[in-house]
Amino acid sequence: MKALLDPRFGFNCTAVLGYELSFLQSVSILQALCSAHTFANAALVQYLFEFCSSDDGFCRLDSLALHMRRLRSELLRSSAQVAGRLTGSLRQAVALSGRKTWHTSRCNALLYLSRQKYYSHVPVGNLLACMTGFKDASFMQWQVLMKYAMQQSRAKNGVFWFFDQQMHGGVPGENPGKDRHTWRSFVVYSLLRKVNSSKEHRRPWAAEIGVSRGSTSEILLKELPSLQMILVEPEITWLARTRMQPFRERVVWINAPSSRASYEVADESLDVVFIDGDHSYEAVREDIAHWSGKVRPGGYLSGHDFTPSCAGVVQAVNDFALQHNATINLQIDCWWFRKSADRTWK
Ligand SMILES: C[S@@+](CC[C@H](N)C(=O)[O-])C[C@H]1O[C@@H](n2cnc3c(N)ncnc32)[C@H](O)[C@@H]1O
Repeated sequence: MKALLDPRFGFNCTAVLGYELSFLQSVSILQALCSAHTFANAALVQYLFEFCSSDDGFCRLDSLALHMRRLRSELLRSSAQVAGRLTGSLRQAVALSGRKTWHTSRCNALLYLSRQKYYSHVPVGNLLACMTGFKDASFMQWQVLMKYAMQQSRAKNGVFWFFDQQMHGGVPGENPGKDRHTWRSFVVYSLLRKVNSSKEHRRPWAAEIGVSRGSTSEILLKELPSLQMILVEPEITWLARTRMQPFRERVVWINAPSSRASYEVADESLDVVFIDGDHSYEAVREDIAHWSGKVRPGGYLSGHDFTPSCAGVVQAVNDFALQHNATINLQIDCWWFRKSADRTWK
């Protein structure tokens, strides 16, 4: 059974909270809920040992269900309790978080079986599905709460954002390996796929502003064989150039700061622009101003680091949303807007 215990089952929200939210007031209040989630995830692991047998691969359904029901009520109780200490949109998000975590996990299916009188045991796979589902759901809820906490503390009134769970994929980190998406590459990949699924069959063009070691561009070019990219970087590294070598036919480097580089690109010629260069407020504002016009109708303006630790990005993206009365689409640490056919931003 030990072999089944891998990090996929452990959720530790301090890792999600610690850095990003450490300077927000609400974080100390959220810590209580953080402990409840971490505890619930650990309890499921414990149930695996207590109620499942590695000999026959089955779990005792009655004991399992009893404990899981307690776990569920504890989660709902702690989210209600913590919500009571908060205000505004964060209060509501926290109040709903327990229920949402539970419903998006696959644990309900297990409880459903326990109500069918003829089952006394379930395959261990059912519990494992619940454990992975629960961990993912906890993580997703923490991302949502983080955005709310951040929004409440930093953003101006009137900004709306949409957290796109559909686009969840990839792993954190700068360079997780040649064939694995990071969160950011997965978002850009998904946006390009959305554009590509439209009726027109053209080769898509994307621009990455700030390329660094080239890990995002590399995986995009690899996964999307028809993709062509404009790579904007004032300090091109040897590593990035080497990585782009296999795709040289499909890549155009612009070795200049982004605003200057934008004059070399035709208006409305790009399907996706991904802004990930200088993260100061002024720079992101300039990048958005210079590159939003390069997006063709139906395409996306996107970027990285919509997080409290990059306040300049948050502020510049919020400004754009307010100016255009647009909703900010978010996934983990990425943001994007869609340019509609009438050239308004959605
Ligand atoms: C966070 S890294 C980019 C990471 C990269 N997008 C990735 O996904 O791997 C930021 C990069 O932006 C570049 N940069 C800084 N100022 C810039 C500017 N004005 N225009 C374009 N790129 C800039 C830096 O040299 C650095 O390589």
